[in-house]
Amino acid sequence: MTGLRRRDMRIGIIGTGNMASALGSRWAAAGHQVLFGGRSAERAGALAGRTGQSAGTVREAAAFGDAVLLALPHDAVAGVLAGLGAADGALRGRLLVDCTNAVGPGFRLTTGTGPGAARAIAEATGARVVKAFNHLPDSVWRRPAPCSPDGPLTVPLCGDDASALETVGTLVRDLGCVPLTVGGLDRAAYLEATTAFLIGLWHSGHDPRTLLPPFDVVTA
Ligand SMILES: NC(=O)c1ccc[n+]([C@@H]2O[C@H](COP(=O)([O-])OP(=O)(O)OC[C@H]3O[C@@H](n4cnc5c(N)ncnc54)[C@H](OP(=O)(O)O)[C@@H]3O)[C@@H](O)[C@H]2O)c1
Repeated sequence: MTGLRRRDMRIGIIGTGNMASALGSRWAAAGHQVLFGGRSAERAGALAGRTGQSAGTVREAAAFGDAVLLALPHDAVAGVLAGLGAADGALRGRLLVDCTNAVGPGFRLTTGTGPGAARAIAEATGARVVKAFNHLPDSVWRRPAPCSPDGPLTVPLCGDDASALETVGTLVRDLGCVPLTVGGLDRAAYLEATTAFLIGLWHSGHDPRTLLPPFDVVTA
């Protein structure tokens, strides 16, 4: 399967909360077809109505189109995947975008020092998993053109499948951002841990940018 570059992708979104709404509405605005799948038909329908897209069940979202965003609390992921028949290979080969954060009390990862959330999802499903969009709050993804102090926002991606990374790269560009593959799924746990670290800083009122000198200073 080759990566998709076209602007009329079909994207299933599992979940109808903040991340589903933020990313789904921006992808819809970019011209993609989105199906919001939730355990509450009312919430899925309301989101679909607001964005001019379609609504369905969690199962319908998992089977919809070219890429599926898992926009669930980390604690719910294993049960939802099991209910979709992951153990029987129902999701094998599907492109799953994992934006989840397994952050518990004290801004600690509930996945501990293990392989991390994205790797666990790949192992449970046989899906082509790409970790993305987890490192910033939904308020950023809702913006028409999220930016860093130096220009368009770079979005780190981790994954093992080149065509899946290419497809998610297109979805990143359609948010007005720049994709950067930072490694395979073996690196996703670092991205997850970095995010837990960043969330802790933001919650305590510290700007993480003050930790970092300009790039040329570091590389001099
Ligand atoms: N919000 C952010 O700023 C942000 C940023 C980056 C990453 N993330 C990560 O993205 C994921 C989603 O976050 P969110 O803020 O969108 O969460 P949210 O607003 O709480 O939405 C979670 C969604 O998951 C659904 N859900 C929960 N348990 C379920 C189950 N057992 N079966 C089916 N659906 C279930 C909820 O359904 P109901 O409405 O029926 O409860 C809801 O639609 C989380 O892992 C979070 O850590 C969030």
